[in-house]
Amino acid sequence: MLNELEKIKKEFLDSIETIKDSKTLEELRVKFLGRKSGLTSVLRSLGTLIQEERVLVGQKANVLRKDIEARLEEIKHNLGQKTGKEVSIDHTLPGLPLSLGKEHPITKTIREIVDIFSPLGFQVATGPEIETDYYNFEALNFPPEHPARDEQDSFQLLGGKYLLRTQTSPVQIRVMEKTKPPVRIISPGVCYRRDNPDASHSPMFHQVEGLAVDTDIHFTDLKGVLSEFIHQMFGKEIKMRFVPSFFPFTEPSAEVAISCIICGGKGCSTCGRTGWLEVLGAGMVHPNVFKKVHYDPKKYTGFAFGMGVERIAMLKYGVGDIRLFYQNNLQFLRQF
Ligand code: PHE
Repeated sequence: MLNELEKIKKEFLDSIETIKDSKTLEELRVKFLGRKSGLTSVLRSLGTLIQEERVLVGQKANVLRKDIEARLEEIKHNLGQKTGKEVSIDHTLPGLPLSLGKEHPITKTIREIVDIFSPLGFQVATGPEIETDYYNFEALNFPPEHPARDEQDSFQLLGGKYLLRTQTSPVQIRVMEKTKPPVRIISPGVCYRRDNPDASHSPMFHQVEGLAVDTDIHFTDLKGVLSEFIHQMFGKEIKMRFVPSFFPFTEPSAEVAISCIICGGKGCSTCGRTGWLEVLGAGMVHPNVFKKVHYDPKKYTGFAFGMGVERIAMLKYGVGDIRLFYQNNLQFLRQF
């Protein structure tokens, strides 16, 4: 009988290696401690032994039973720690919902703008955010002391060697330097100006630039393209008007306004009682710009436009404060 106990102990120690979950654990518990186990039958047959043997075998059998119990308890505890639960898992319960991310409203607006211009033949082009004075100003016909620079206070880097671009217009130059006409590009991207943040200003914001150059481009083409854009973006009923303006790199230049989407043009606080909302700047490419990129201004003409993405998004989605886009407030962002 003592041999029998030794055998049970050895078999038990060998088989605990196979425990990998609560199911195999329970199987072993039944096998070694259950009613039909070798240990139980040893304990049952104690009565057939003589006094001395009974005491000895009984003691050993009980010690073995306690050892087995303790060992199984320990394994159960370890398994529980691994799975985080001591109870078995109900695999039929529904899972935890995964919350899906969304596009940021600015990204979404950029995509909407690009989706309108792409079918019109405009290809997306990008350029660096760290620019030189040459690409950001000089090549765009802003001479060093020109007052038009005042409107675009820049962040200078390395003592003025570089700056954070104040507009996406330098992409025009970079593309024209590398390609021969015809050119038709749309260039979304981030810009920086040294402005103090308030409801309508942010030192970091986004623009989308557009440029078309060919042998036969006229102001009417600009009007046609922009009216298509505005109607698709804001609705067919929206009116558009061009107001003469100034940009160094376009001539003539215009500021484009749309009839107020809040009051329909009657005049309200959003449109400053004018009935109109300015949405972008535009014009015909200045001959001086063509000269910088070695395009013949007698042969080629072109139009360019630029818009602030935040401005478009604020108007389209009725957002009253530009700062909301950058505060990572999920309650705000989830609405788009
Ligand atoms: N880059 C100009 C700005 O930021 C906008 C513009 C782009 C105007 C292209 C005309 C043509 O003010």
